[in-house]
Amino acid sequence: MKVLVTGGAGFIGSNFVRHLLRDHPADQVIIVDRLTYAGNLRNLGEALQDGRCRFNRLDLCDPAVRDIVKGCDAVVHFAVNPLATRRPALQDEVQGRMPAHGENP
Ligand SMILES: NC(=O)c1ccc[n+]([C@@H]2O[C@H](COP(=O)([O-])OP(=O)(O)OC[C@H]3O[C@@H](n4cnc5c(N)ncnc54)[C@H](O)[C@@H]3O)[C@@H](O)[C@H]2O)c1
Repeated sequence: MKVLVTGGAGFIGSNFVRHLLRDHPADQVIIVDRLTYAGNLRNLGEALQDGRCRFNRLDLCDPAVRDIVKGCDAVVHFAVNPLATRRPALQDEVQGRMPAHGENP
């Protein structure tokens, strides 16, 4: 199974990515994360060296996410922006989820 993990460089997402790679050897992981203050590639550690893992530095609202979704079997959504004062939460939580779920924004 090819799994898209949004927010995969964050706290929960990176643990989930490592879990998938460790316990599901047949799975591939595609990460979409725009690396906000909370996202850090160091959270992913050796996962990035795994040939089954691909990292994309992208905002969820980027239209390119729609193409990435098309090639995936499942989406696990961890991307979150708790600082709604900096960027409207609606943008991440609604506009960002639509392309991630393959719907037209
Ligand atoms: N941390 C906890 O203890 C905990 C517990 C239960 C549930 N959760 C839930 O799990 C989810 C993830 O939490 P977390 O603690 O890992 O958050 P986090 O802030 O550590 O990670 C969020 C990630 O999303 C990325 N991101 C944010 N906006 C983005 C966007 N528009 N496009 C692409 N990437 C974007 C950030 O760069 C970051 O890597 C949240 O929904 C949270 O409510 C967290």
